[in-house]
Amino acid sequence: MLDLYNQHLGHRHLEVGPGSGWYLANTTAMQPGPAHITLMDLNPTPLSFTARRIEAADRVVESVCGSVLDAVPAEAGTGYESVGINFVLHCVPGNFAEKGVAFRHLANILGDEGVLFGSTILGRRRTPRTLFGRALTAVYGRVGAFNNRDDDRDELEDALKEAFGEYSITDVGDVTLFTARRPRR
Ligand SMILES: C[S@@+](CC[C@H](N)C(=O)[O-])C[C@H]1O[C@@H](n2cnc3c(N)ncnc32)[C@H](O)[C@@H]1O
Repeated sequence: MLDLYNQHLGHRHLEVGPGSGWYLANTTAMQPGPAHITLMDLNPTPLSFTARRIEAADRVVESVCGSVLDAVPAEAGTGYESVGINFVLHCVPGNFAEKGVAFRHLANILGDEGVLFGSTILGRRRTPRTLFGRALTAVYGRVGAFNNRDDDRDELEDALKEAFGEYSITDVGDVTLFTARRPRR
């Protein structure tokens, strides 16, 4: 996952669901130098925590409260070089036929040359998951932290295809990584 950030983080970046901000704080792509990072989350706490963690003299960090199930708030602007959405979609209710609308919303604010990168844990997999993965998914599903029971790769692919002209999907262990380019207008 950190490789995704190292390879794709741009100078004007939207981070959806930053959590503790660990990836933004640890990516080698976040070198000193002018950058504009917008954080978007349902909850104010990850926004303020991450903003404090990554603040730097020549970096503009803005926060917007919102859900990926809705259009990105206008205050976030458009024309992003990169959008990160990591370990968010398996928390969001519904299957990809429903929550896949998130990709449309993010395609709308991504620049023509921009890249979206992300990761999720699918509830339905072609290959068996590890014992740890099974246990984690079962426990997190039971307490409502994961909503990925009906998430499968085909529907993830359909949702990406609907919003982007180019995409890739790769499994690493129990985690599914994706990138997407050429947002459809
Ligand atoms: C498991 S954390 C992932 C944190 C971080 N991206 C990482 O990989 O370490 C999920 C994050 O997504 C946010 N989130 C959950 N549902 C969301 C939604 N519908 N729209 C935006 N953010 C959401 C949560 O508040 C939290 O910050």
